[in-house]
Amino acid sequence: MQIFYLILFLLVNSQSIFGDRLPCQKRLYNTLYSYVCVCNSTYCDTVESVDYEQTDLFYQEYVTSSSGLRLEKFKQKFDSQPSPSSQLNLTIVKSKTYQSIFGFGGAITDSSGFNIYHLSPQSIDNLINSYFSKTGIEYNIIRVPVAGVDFSTRTYTYDDTPNDFNLTKFSLSQEDLEWKIPFIQSALKVSPKQIKLFASAWSAPPWMKTNNDYKGNGTLIGPVGGKYYQTWADYYVKFFKSYENFGLNFWAMTAQNEPTDGNIAKFTFNALGFTPETQADFIVKNLGPKLKEANLGLKIMILDDQRLFLPGWAEQVFSHNPEAKKYVDGIAVHWYLDSLVPPKVLDWTHDKFPDKFIFATEACHALAGLGPAVVLGSFDRAESYVRDIIEDLNHWVTGWTDWNLALDLKGGPNWAGNFVDSPILVNKSSDEFLKQPMFYAMGHFSKFIPEGSVRIDLEAEGLSSSSLAHVAFKNEQNRQIILVLLNKSSQNVTYSINDLESGKFINSMLQAHSFKTIVLFY
Ligand SMILES: *[C@@H]1O[C@H](CO)[C@@H](O)[C@H](O)[C@H]1NC(C)=O
Ligand SMILES: *[C@@H]1O[C@H](CO)[C@@H](O)[C@H](O)[C@H]1NC(C)=O
Ligand SMILES: *[C@@H]1O[C@H](CO)[C@@H](O)[C@H](O)[C@H]1NC(C)=O
Ligand SMILES: *[C@@H]1O[C@H](CO)[C@@H](O)[C@H](O)[C@H]1NC(C)=O
Ligand SMILES: *[C@@H]1O[C@H](CO)[C@@H](O)[C@H](O)[C@H]1NC(C)=O
Ligand SMILES: *[C@@H]1O[C@H](CO)[C@@H](O)[C@H](O)[C@H]1NC(C)=O
Repeated sequence: MQIFYLILFLLVNSQSIFGDRLPCQKRLYNTLYSYVCVCNSTYCDTVESVDYEQTDLFYQEYVTSSSGLRLEKFKQKFDSQPSPSSQLNLTIVKSKTYQSIFGFGGAITDSSGFNIYHLSPQSIDNLINSYFSKTGIEYNIIRVPVAGVDFSTRTYTYDDTPNDFNLTKFSLSQEDLEWKIPFIQSALKVSPKQIKLFASAWSAPPWMKTNNDYKGNGTLIGPVGGKYYQTWADYYVKFFKSYENFGLNFWAMTAQNEPTDGNIAKFTFNALGFTPETQADFIVKNLGPKLKEANLGLKIMILDDQRLFLPGWAEQVFSHNPEAKKYVDGIAVHWYLDSLVPPKVLDWTHDKFPDKFIFATEACHALAGLGPAVVLGSFDRAESYVRDIIEDLNHWVTGWTDWNLALDLKGGPNWAGNFVDSPILVNKSSDEFLKQPMFYAMGHFSKFIPEGSVRIDLEAEGLSSSSLAHVAFKNEQNRQIILVLLNKSSQNVTYSINDLESGKFINSMLQAHSFKTIVLFY
């Protein structure tokens, strides 16, 4: 019996025991930037798993640096005392706990699916494994757009037949059937985790809208609670039931992607306008009861827009129609204007509505015409992901969702010409995909901070700067403490970490332009 378990253990853990990690196949495009890692049908780099041996003697760290490492694992010995010369002292306070984590992931937009679909089957496997499997970065969150968005090759919804209030013409699109559902199913198959899906819609069918268009300034027609709002709620339920037929059950939905976009004159891509008041009433009068009746067990998130609108949006939703509290579980934020608004707005929102979780649902690097959408090998873009994620996590955010899982070399396709960057870029003509530094940035969180991890206090003493960031979690199930540290500057930093409970110390250095995840056991 014991030998059986030993063999099982060796098989399950062979990756880490024998250290057979496949290294990054580096490609440098421009010496101003860092490199990308190239994958194809026969080769793709992997990430080593955490070891479960000698955890009292060693801690493990994974390092990504502009100078040459991508989620590279190191086993290091603990020290018995702190170094007096450390510039930064971090003290882990495990007993002081904050929010619990849902996870990390990205969105299977039509364009992502289109790009993945055009790779060979073996390259597709490598791409799906890179994001979702144990040899990859183990995403456990997938955002699924409800019909067309700007990252689609055309404009459409699931029912473009005017005045079809009974939605008899509703049907999923070829995009769902060929580009999205098969890849979500593959992700579920290779994932060692329970994947959580959440849905967001950009536009209702034009015939339901005041401006009879997918884009621009338009809301649903008539009063909230009326026939158009009800049909829109029915449409969501049809969507979820249709996905259920493919074995895909959702965890959550947002009540609308960027509801403020649809109130902007000449807005250039798919949108549907809501105010906090109409969002509250829509949830109470139409969406909430309809979802309940359909027994889908879905969580509802409000906002799904820039944090600039907090705490006001949440305050207005819940004060305009207090019954909304009954239906709403969370508040979703996008990262685009984060530099304009201090993270304090997240704290205020949490303090006012402590039983509503905050979750980050969209982020990407988009210079909106000010520069190239795609920068091959940009380390700076990876660092700003890490900086923003750590900031969010230190202010009650329960998870972070990147935007497109895979774009082409131009940052598309996008029917509205709104090209952006992505952690994975597909080169269709060479059957290759390129992993940007942003991919590894996401992995520093998604692979090591599983659902159910809880943020704990990390007290800092010494050096403090806007280029230095850190956050800590504990995971009771794995008995792990997980830290993520970032040094965005061009100087090395020495630090000591004190794990109060074990009396163990870590004395080490954070290289210039690097980030690391540290895993220790308790
Ligand atoms: C894939 O990449 C590896 C490593 O760079 C290379 O050796 C191999 O020839 C490539 N395979 C194909 C089919 O291009
Ligand atoms: C870090 O802690 C050590 C040991 O207590 C101390 O000698 C050192 O001055 C501290 N460093 C900073 C930057 O506070
Ligand atoms: C829509 O459904 C309602 C209720 O089931 C039914 O009375 C009505 O005739 C249907 N309308 C159309 C156009 O099918
Ligand atoms: C948007 O459309 C509504 C209704 O048609 C109109 O009242 C409002 O002024 C428009 N907003 C902008 C910014 O154009
Ligand atoms: C994409 O593949 C083509 C064909 O092999 C090649 O010429 C081109 O350099 C590749 N582009 C990038 C960005 O690697
Ligand atoms: C930072 O540390 C690395 C690795 O030890 C070293 O090669 C490099 O010279 C250091 N950089 C600075 C600015 O001290």
